[in-house]
Amino acid sequence: MKALVYHGPGNKAWEEVPDPQLREPTDVIVQIDTTTICGTDLHILKGDVPAVTDGRVLGHEGVGTVTAVGSAVNSLSDGDRVIISCITSCGSCSYCQRQLPSHCLADEGTSGIGWIFGHLIDGTQAEYVRVPFADTSLYKLPEGVGDEAAAMLSDILPTGFEIGVRNGRVKPGDVVAVVGAGPVGLSAIMTAGLYGAARVIAIDLDDNRRELAKSFGATDSVDSGAAGWRDQVLAMTDGLGVDVAIEAVGIPQTFDMCTQLIRPGGTVANVGVHGAPVELQLQDLWIKDVAITTGLVSATTTSMLLKLVAQGKLHPEQFVTHRFKLDEVMDAYDTFGRAAETKAIKVALAR
Ligand SMILES: NC(=O)c1ccc[n+]([C@@H]2O[C@H](COP(=O)([O-])OP(=O)(O)OC[C@H]3O[C@@H](n4cnc5c(N)ncnc54)[C@H](O)[C@@H]3O)[C@@H](O)[C@H]2O)c1
Ligand SMILES: [Zn+2]
Ligand SMILES: [Zn+2]
Repeated sequence: MKALVYHGPGNKAWEEVPDPQLREPTDVIVQIDTTTICGTDLHILKGDVPAVTDGRVLGHEGVGTVTAVGSAVNSLSDGDRVIISCITSCGSCSYCQRQLPSHCLADEGTSGIGWIFGHLIDGTQAEYVRVPFADTSLYKLPEGVGDEAAAMLSDILPTGFEIGVRNGRVKPGDVVAVVGAGPVGLSAIMTAGLYGAARVIAIDLDDNRRELAKSFGATDSVDSGAAGWRDQVLAMTDGLGVDVAIEAVGIPQTFDMCTQLIRPGGTVANVGVHGAPVELQLQDLWIKDVAITTGLVSATTTSMLLKLVAQGKLHPEQFVTHRFKLDEVMDAYDTFGRAAETKAIKVALAR
C-alpha cells in the first residue's frame, strides 16, 4: 500500500510500504476513506516529538471501512464504516476504566500513552491502518453522517469539548473567552453552546479566523493584537471578567491572557500544548478562587458528539476548507502548513 512516511525532521514521503496485518486478536484492519492533517503532525515534522522515529506512518485522525477482523473482536464486521479515534483504549486498564484512556496502560506503543497512531505505531495517512483494541477504539458511523464531519470527531471536536468546555465547567449563562481560533479553539466555540454559554468571545490575531469563528457559534470577537483587547473583553462581562477562559494556542503569552481575563471564581482551561515554561501570576490569582485545568484529550465523548452530528445539532463538516485525494497528501501538507496564507482550517483527504 501507499502511506505518508516520516523520515526525520523536515522529511516525509508518500511511498510504498507493506500492507498492515492483523497482529493481535483484538485488532482490525481499516481501509482509510477520509483522513486529515493535525497541527500535531506539523510539530512532528519539525522534530518536536522525538518519540516519532524514521519510518513511522503519520496521522491519527480518519474514517474508514473495516476490511479484516481479529478473532476476539465482537462488535465489528467487514464493511462497517468507522471513526478512528486519536486515542486508543484497551477498555480494561485502570485508566480506561476511569474514563481516561489518554493514559491507557496497555502495551501497544508505550504504556501510559493513549495517543499511539502516527506517534508510537503506524497511523492513518495511509491506504490501510491496523487498529488495536478495535472494540473500544472505533466508533461505527450511523447512516447519514458524512465522512468529513465524522473525521472531525477523531480528535479536534472531542479535544475542544473535553479539555476546553468540560474541564472549564461551562454552565448556562456563562461568558466564555476562547483564546486561539484554530481548529481546536473553534471546536471549543462550537461546543460551548452545549452547556448553555450565553456569550462566546473568539480572541485571535488572525482577521479571517476571528470572522470565521462567528459561523462556529462565537457571539463576539476581539483582536488580541489591539491595545485595548482586555478592556474590550471585560466590557462584554459585568466588568469582572469571563467565567471561563479557554487557552487554545499553547504559548506563555496566551496562557497569561487567560489569567488576565478570568473573573473571581472562574476557570482557566488550558488546551494548548506548551513547549516552554509559563510564569504563573499566583500572587494575583490565589485570592480570586481561580481554578486552572489541563489535559490531554481522552475522546470519551466521541459517541455523544456523534449523536449530535447525526441529529444535525452540530455541523463539523464546516471545518473542512480544502479537499484533496489521498495521494495528493504532499500538496495537502503544503496547504495546511501555510494556513495563514491559504486560510485552511482542516483539509480532507479522500481515497
Ligand atoms: N490538550 C490536547 O489534548 C490537545 C489536542 C490537540 C491539540 N492541542 C493543542 O491545541 C492548540 C491549538 O491547536 P490548533 O490545531 O487549533 O492550532 P492552530 O495553530 O491552528 O491555531 C492556533 C490559533 O492561535 C492563534 N494565535 C497565535 N498567537 C496568538 C495570540 N497571541 N493571541 C491570540 N491568538 C493567537 C493563531 O492565529 C491560530 O488561529 C495547540 O497547542 C495544539 O497542540 C491540544
Ligand atoms: Zn491531532
Ligand atoms: Zn487502557
